[in-house]
Amino acid sequence: MAPNAAGEHPGEHQIIGVIGAGAMGRGIAQVSAQGGMNVLLYDAASGAAQKGRDYILGMIDRSVERGRMTPEAAAAAKGRIQVAAAIADLAPAALVVEAVIEDLEIKRQVFRAVEEVVARDAIIASNTSSIRIASIAAACRHKERIAGLHFFNPVPLMPLVEIVRAPATADETVRSLDALGKRMGRVPVVVQDSPGFLVNLGGRSYTTEALRIFSEGVASPAQVDAVMRDACGFRMGPFELMDLTGIDVNYPVSQIIFNGYYQDRRLATQPAHQAMMESGRLGRKTRIGWFTYDEQGTTLGPAAAGAEADMKPDDAPAPRVVLAGEDSRLARLFQDAGCEIAAADDGTSPIVAAPLGEDCTSLAVRLGLDARRLVAVDLTGNIARRVTLMAAPGAAATAVAAVAARLLKTGAAVTGIKDSPGFIAQRMRGMIANLGCEMAQIGIASPADIDTAMKLGLNYPQGPLEMTELMGTRATFDIMSRLHEITGDDRYRPSLWLRRRALLALPINTPD
Ligand SMILES: NC(=O)c1ccc[n+]([C@@H]2O[C@H](COP(=O)([O-])OP(=O)(O)OC[C@H]3O[C@@H](n4cnc5c(N)ncnc54)[C@H](O)[C@@H]3O)[C@@H](O)[C@H]2O)c1
Repeated sequence: MAPNAAGEHPGEHQIIGVIGAGAMGRGIAQVSAQGGMNVLLYDAASGAAQKGRDYILGMIDRSVERGRMTPEAAAAAKGRIQVAAAIADLAPAALVVEAVIEDLEIKRQVFRAVEEVVARDAIIASNTSSIRIASIAAACRHKERIAGLHFFNPVPLMPLVEIVRAPATADETVRSLDALGKRMGRVPVVVQDSPGFLVNLGGRSYTTEALRIFSEGVASPAQVDAVMRDACGFRMGPFELMDLTGIDVNYPVSQIIFNGYYQDRRLATQPAHQAMMESGRLGRKTRIGWFTYDEQGTTLGPAAAGAEADMKPDDAPAPRVVLAGEDSRLARLFQDAGCEIAAADDGTSPIVAAPLGEDCTSLAVRLGLDARRLVAVDLTGNIARRVTLMAAPGAAATAVAAVAARLLKTGAAVTGIKDSPGFIAQRMRGMIANLGCEMAQIGIASPADIDTAMKLGLNYPQGPLEMTELMGTRATFDIMSRLHEITGDDRYRPSLWLRRRALLALPINTPD
């Protein structure tokens, strides 16, 4: 039969076997049934598949109550889910998705057993988050039909699915999974069989760079979170996100990916991360992590030492500032806040600058400025909502407070941090963008799929390549190059993908 407009082959792959009726298996069975496929659900634990089926039927009923599904469609979907008593009952399945516990030996046993019973052209896929597909496929005779099909939790609400292509996976297997994923109402992206696949790898920068900034004493968790939400448009800050997913989950994932990439410094987390895990401060589930929570899950406040997000200076707003150099945007910001711009350095007014990827110390030395009066302002991000200020060690607190008081007149919140090349926003977005570029360089997925996956899988306001364009490809390269130079840390080395497109002034998604 000819494929339809979506490239699907109607009538093909009618029966989907799902092994493991836990959190993920239930969701996969539900979206398969809602996509018009017949599902056979199997679980090794006695009664677990039946319990899983009952749970799914309840979820479908709730979709009807909420007006997301018609009663007719719900009845049809419910009728398509059957319980299988044994793996042998999955024989008619065209696709079997394995969602059992995360254990390589158990997964291999399951794959061997499935291969014994299904048709020669059936596809067998794993929903593993962290095990290499090639390691699981090693147990199978026909490796070309083995792939990863990595869904996100909760499956019915998270439309992304990663199709993981191992070295032996056939193109036909990938094509069929793409069509099946779309029938399940998912947005499939094809990714390489590598540590963390796409989304879990791409998400490393957000938490590890936040931890790096915190560990350097640059800013508190509350400050980092506020800047990422208000100035960069993220739905959640990195510290509240760690508390939500659980530090017992995100610390081990960080270690698996870091070691999987042979300890690439770009992926390194910080000792503070491990310390939180070992002290049992796991986040919301223990009611204390980076923040504390009451029994209802309401955030009570920061648990970790450090400043609150907002500056509330008692000082009078600076009447006059000196610009460190020509900068029309910076001049306009201060003029709009009712401040005079001094024609020349008067020796007393705060000196303001808007560096990219440079800290106040380096800037003061490079331009021969008085570091005690120098206050740097981050003009990247949404400065109508939040402005970040920083100063060098030894700077006059009165200069920073007077500049903060002046900028509060714009209506934006103001965050004051310690000296840092790239403040918070430039470092965080630079690291996300740079890792996205590196993922394109090493072929984890296509540039378009990298952006799609990071937006759908992690709710990022832009994909990492889009973020590069938004900040400016050249500006992103400059931020990373200066961070690299000032810190001397390989963690900040610019991706060659970014470097080439910045130097040649090409769009960031230009193929190699
Ligand atoms: N939970 C998540 O957020 C998430 C997200 C993406 C992927 N994953 C992956 O999905 C898989 C399942 O995770 P989960 O959260 O649904 O786990 P879960 O513990 O909720 O469910 C696992 C189910 O597998 C069953 N099981 C165990 N061994 C079995 C076997 N040999 N044969 C048949 N059934 C068996 C268990 O009885 C249980 O019902 C794991 O590989 C996990 O890494 C989980």
